[in-house]
Amino acid sequence: MSDSALDLIDSKTYPIHRSGSATYSALVARCRNDLAAQSACLLPGFITEEARIRMVAEVDRAALDAFPCRNAHNVYLEEHDDAFPPDHPRRRPQATDLDSVAFDQIRPSDGLHRLYSWDPLLIFIADVLEKEHYYRMADPFAALTVNVMREGQNHGWHFDESEVTTTLMVQAPEAGGAFQYAPNVRPEEGDGYDVVDRVLHGSYSDIRTLAVEPGTLILFVGYRSMHQVTPVKGPVTRYVATFCYKDRPNVCNSPEVQKLFYGRTA
Ligand SMILES: [Fe+2]
Repeated sequence: MSDSALDLIDSKTYPIHRSGSATYSALVARCRNDLAAQSACLLPGFITEEARIRMVAEVDRAALDAFPCRNAHNVYLEEHDDAFPPDHPRRRPQATDLDSVAFDQIRPSDGLHRLYSWDPLLIFIADVLEKEHYYRMADPFAALTVNVMREGQNHGWHFDESEVTTTLMVQAPEAGGAFQYAPNVRPEEGDGYDVVDRVLHGSYSDIRTLAVEPGTLILFVGYRSMHQVTPVKGPVTRYVATFCYKDRPNVCNSPEVQKLFYGRTA
């Protein structure tokens, strides 16, 4: 059993440690509904303001060693493929510019580390996603990360690798840094290239913005919903932590992926 992180969260509103209770079941049901209805579920004030302020200071320290990710990728985060025509969505480069704090740069005593290591959070997310088997990722860098975005930095349009992504907004910028998404544009059948193309050309109308307050836990259907973060404006750095879970135990990234995103291999 992991050490308790109960002191970090608003456990009255979000009793994720009481998995048998009626309030727990109602919360799980609400999250499932939100994910089905809008491809995203927000739990505002998930962590206490006191915990959040401490986390900001801890991330300030870790961010000094963050790895700069400056790359151009396609929205599928897949290898460049010349077989597609030049203006095809698979070949349209998206620029990303952010700094990444790796799991091994976050101390075990830090709030984010404690929260990620706490079993009730894992069990709660598994319940929402109806996963019978769910595990923390074993990668020493990618299991728990913080995306650090300073003024002018952005995250280009992309789909996530995993079906649902769990993130925590630790610190929001004064302006910009908006999370925009086009829900469910990757269909279960077919390729959906026409819609992706319209998003990239700015002619798709259903682009939504998630208004996320600091301290909010977010579940997001990132594999099917294309998303981006607009450039940050102002002096306050945007900090978003990602908690990575997998359907199988002991999952690590390849050395190539480790090198690309963290500049190092394990
Ligand atoms: Fe993403």
